[in-house]
Amino acid sequence: MIEESKVIDETRQGEATMTKTVVPNGRKLLLESYGCAMNFSDSEIIASIMGEAGFTTTTDPYEADVVMMNTCSIRDNAEQKIRHRLVHFKGLKKKKRNLVVGILGCMAERLREQLLDEEKLVDLVVGPDAYRDLPNLIEQVDSGQKAVNVLLSREETYADISPIRLDSNGVTAFISIMRGCDNMCSFCVVPFTRGRERSRNPHSIVQEANELFEQGYREVTLLGQNVDSYKWNMNSKGEITNPEEKTANFAELLSMVAEVNPDLRVRFSTSHPKDMGDDVLHAIANYENVCDYVHLPVQSGHSDVLKRMNRGYTREWYLDRIAAIRRINPECAISTDFIAGFCGETDEEHEATISLMNEVQYEMAYNFKYSERPRTLAERKYEDDVPEEVKAKRLTEIIDLQKKHSAGRSKKMLGKVQRVLIEGVSKRSDDHYFGRNSQNMVVIIPKENNAQGSYVQVKITDCTVTTLIGHVVESNKSEL
Ligand code: 5AD
Ligand code: SF4
Repeated sequence: MIEESKVIDETRQGEATMTKTVVPNGRKLLLESYGCAMNFSDSEIIASIMGEAGFTTTTDPYEADVVMMNTCSIRDNAEQKIRHRLVHFKGLKKKKRNLVVGILGCMAERLREQLLDEEKLVDLVVGPDAYRDLPNLIEQVDSGQKAVNVLLSREETYADISPIRLDSNGVTAFISIMRGCDNMCSFCVVPFTRGRERSRNPHSIVQEANELFEQGYREVTLLGQNVDSYKWNMNSKGEITNPEEKTANFAELLSMVAEVNPDLRVRFSTSHPKDMGDDVLHAIANYENVCDYVHLPVQSGHSDVLKRMNRGYTREWYLDRIAAIRRINPECAISTDFIAGFCGETDEEHEATISLMNEVQYEMAYNFKYSERPRTLAERKYEDDVPEEVKAKRLTEIIDLQKKHSAGRSKKMLGKVQRVLIEGVSKRSDDHYFGRNSQNMVVIIPKENNAQGSYVQVKITDCTVTTLIGHVVESNKSEL
C-alpha cells in the first residue's frame, strides 16, 4: 500500500540516502492484478510511479478515482474474467462520471485500441513497457482524450524504480531481473505482449535485495520468463558488449544475491529446460540460502509435441536435466507446467506425458488445457483439433496423477525436521502460522512464541496432499 502521503525514493549514492516527499493529489487509485508473479511485481512498479505522481491507493472501488487493471492474456479464460470485470467498472462509471478506467499489461498490449474504440470499455490502454508514461496519460484522459501507449522497448527494465510492496507480508518479495521473452514457444502469447528479452543491471538487483533484507524481508524470488538466459553485458551470442564492465550470467547473479546475507532465502522462477545449465544447479548446492526448489516447465512428455511446441528440447534432454538436478541437489523439489490437448496431440502422445510424470514424480504441477492464442505460431500453423472433452479428460488424468505424487512426496516428509521461514498467519486458523521449507512446501505450526519473519526448526508430524503440519523443536537463535 502506498504510504499515506509520502513515497520514499531511496537512491543510494555511496552511503547517502535521498528521501523525497511527494505531495498527495487527493486522488485514489484502485490497482487490480491478474496472472503471473511478474504481473504482481509490475503492479508494485506501477504503484511506485503513481505514488510519485501523488496518488494514494484504495481497495474500495467506490472510493477510487482511477481504476487500473494489470491484465493477463496467457489463456482465453484469463481474458474473459478481466472482460467481466471491465463491464462491471463500465457500470460503475455511470454512477461515478469522473472515474477513469485503465487497462494495463498483456491484454492491453494485445488488444490495443480495440477496447477503447470498438468496445468503449476503458479510457486508458498501457502496455508493460510504458508504465513511466502513466502520469502523462492520466493527464491526457483528464483533458477529455483517450490515452494509449503500447510501445514495447528493448531497454526498459525499470531498474531505478523502487517498487512499493503491495499486499506484503513483510517477509517475502519478488524482484524482477529481466523482461520479455525471445523463445517463441508456438502456443505462447508472451513474446507478443511483453516484447524482446532484456536483463536488468545486476547491481540494482543486489541493491534491491539488500534493501529488502534491511527492511526485515527474509526471502526474495528472482523473476523472469526464462531466468536461465539472464545475461548482463553480453549480447545474444554471448559476446561482451562493454569491455570496461563485468559480465554476469544467471548462475553468477544467483550467487551475488545469495551473498547479500545467509539469512535471506533466494528463489527463482521460471527456468527453461533448454537453457538450465549445471552452473545454476551448483549455485543451489553451494549456497544454503538458495532454496532447494526448481520450477522446470515441461509442457509435454512427447518429443514430437515438444517439437510442434517449438520448445527447443526433447523428452530425453529434459530427463537429462532432471537427472542433473537430482545428482547435484538430491534434496531438490521439482515442479512443472503441463498443457493438455495441444494441437494434434494423440492418445499415445498424452500417454507419454503420463509416463514422464511417473518417471519424474514431481512435487507439484500447474496444469492447463491448451487455449489457442491469436498471432502465435501454433495458431498460424496448426489446427486446435483436440476436442474440448478430450482436453478435459486428459487434464483430469494429469491432475489426479499429480495429486497422488504430491501426497506421496508429502508423506515422505513425516518425521523429518525442516527449517521453515514463517510467512504469516494460517488462512484456516488464527492460532497457527504458515511458512515454507526450502522445497517450497507449505508448513503449518502452532503460533506459540514464534514470530513472523523468523526461521524455526519444525518436526513434521502430519500432512495433507500439499501441506505439512508440525511443531517447533528448536529455534534458530540468530534469527530471534
Ligand atoms: N494454453 C494453455 N496454457 C498455456 N501456457 C502458456 N500458453 C498457454 C496456452 N496458450 C502455460 C504454459 C506455461 C504457463 C505459464 O502457462 O504451461 O508454462
Ligand atoms: Fe512463453 Fe515459452 Fe517464453 Fe515461457 S519461454 S514466456 S512459454 S514463449
